[in-house]
This record gives sequence, structure tokens and C-alpha cells, in this order.
Amino acid sequence: MKRATIDGIDLAYVDRGEGTPVLLIHGFPLDHTMWEAQIDALATKYRVLAPDLRGFGQSVALEQGDWDDVVTMERFADDLAALLQTIEVNRPAVVVGLSMGGYVALEFWRKHTERTKRLVLCDTRAAKDPPEVAAGRLETADQVLRDGAASLAEGMILKLFPQSTITEQPELGEAFRRMVSEADPRGIAAAARGMAERRDMTKLLQQIACPTLLIVGTWDIISPPEEMHAIAEAIPRAQFAEIPGCGHLSAMEKPEAVNRTLLEFLGRFS
Ligand code: MLT
Repeated sequence: MKRATIDGIDLAYVDRGEGTPVLLIHGFPLDHTMWEAQIDALATKYRVLAPDLRGFGQSVALEQGDWDDVVTMERFADDLAALLQTIEVNRPAVVVGLSMGGYVALEFWRKHTERTKRLVLCDTRAAKDPPEVAAGRLETADQVLRDGAASLAEGMILKLFPQSTITEQPELGEAFRRMVSEADPRGIAAAARGMAERRDMTKLLQQIACPTLLIVGTWDIISPPEEMHAIAEAIPRAQFAEIPGCGHLSAMEKPEAVNRTLLEFLGRFS
């Protein structure tokens, strides 16, 4: 991985391939390795940038930065815009985010519209958290600081993957446990608090003028297809793709189907 210093933080990122930049933003509490299959498939045609957001994966050097207890989705988005600037990616990027990465992608579009060529929102939401969900995130932050990052894994796995996948593809659960245990508990807590206070993007969706694709697993119980379909309806000319037999982490669980959908979308406007 390469590294760049952004806002006093040492950010790690993959930079592979050439051509139109494609920025892959991971979910919570994961890292860039959730995109392994997409990095391989896309880097043959595009310049793929897959960072670890601050506090996750190899971007864990919290003590080196001037941190507070909350990292907002806006701050993550600003980190990514600064990363692109620092490494001289001067062309607008295709911005792809899954789940929390989708919250960050929407903030990236809102604040850095000129850097956003197209948007791909995977298994994510536009609405802000209802109060009980936001309260749960604050409890998650306390839990992870008290009991460690790994304490989150088992409960989350049951919500992220359908039971059939947990049984048939145990390596996905293993990959998930590894990513969670490698994240810095303070990074997880700060991002959980940031998600709890994220803004409601639903009113802004109609202003998205760039080509946009939505991808969702048919069995996603965190950002269900009906909710993502409503987002697609609100964004002018957005495309909507359901990945059959798949839960929340579509890019990991059904990489071939997600790659096909992504490559088709990217090829359409090249
Ligand atoms: C994620 O996968 O990033 C999380 O499920 C996001 C969330 O908790 O809203």
C-alpha cells in the first residue's frame, strides 16, 4: 500500500491501474480489502484508488493526529478529496461507496461535486438515523472502547450476511473478523458517532446530476432494496441493480455479479 499524510494523519491506500480514477470507499468497520475483487477486476481498465479511511485498516495512527471523538462523514469525504489532491489525481473520479462508504460518497458528491464524475451507491441509505438507531451507535462506540473491536464482530456478521452465506462461505466471516480486529477501537467509535450525527441527504438526491448507479443485495436487511429503490427514484436517471441471493456486503459476497454491474456501468459512459 502507498501512504500519504493528510491533515496530520497517515492514510494508506491502494493505487492500481491507469485511466479514469475510480475511488472505492469501504464500509464500517472494514477496510480497503473488502474491495479486493473489485480492485482486481477494475484495475485492468481504470485507475483504482482504495483507501483505508482514518482509524481503519492501516490508516490507524490516531495518536499522530489532532483527533476528537467524532469523525463525521464530511470529514472522511474531505480526507479523500485531500488525498486525491495530494497524489495529483486531477480528473474527476467515479466515486463508489458501500454502506458507510455510501454515506461518505454522498458527502463527497455534496462537497466536492467538481471531483465527482459518477456515483455508485452500494447497500447504503440517504436518510439520517432515527433517534433509536443513533442512540444504538453511541452504545456501539462505548462498547468498542470498553470491550475492544472484536466484540462487535459476531453480532454484526448475523446482520450482514444471510445464514446460507455464513454456512457456505465461512471465509467471508473470517475476513470480516480480521478487518474488525485490525481497526483501531477509537477509529470505530469515532466513525460510529459520526454516522449517528450524519445529515439527511434525501432532499438533495434530486440535485445529483452525474450518472448514478445503485446496487443492493436482495436480502440486505440494513439498507433494504425498497429503500434503495426509493433513492434511485429520487435521483434523476439513476440506474438500479439488485444482486440476487445477497446480503449487505454485496461487493464481498457476490463479487462477480457486482463486478459485472460496475464494469457495465463504467463502460456505458466512457
Ligand atoms: C456499514 O456496513 O458500513 C454499516 O452497516 C453502516 C451502518 O451501520 O449504517
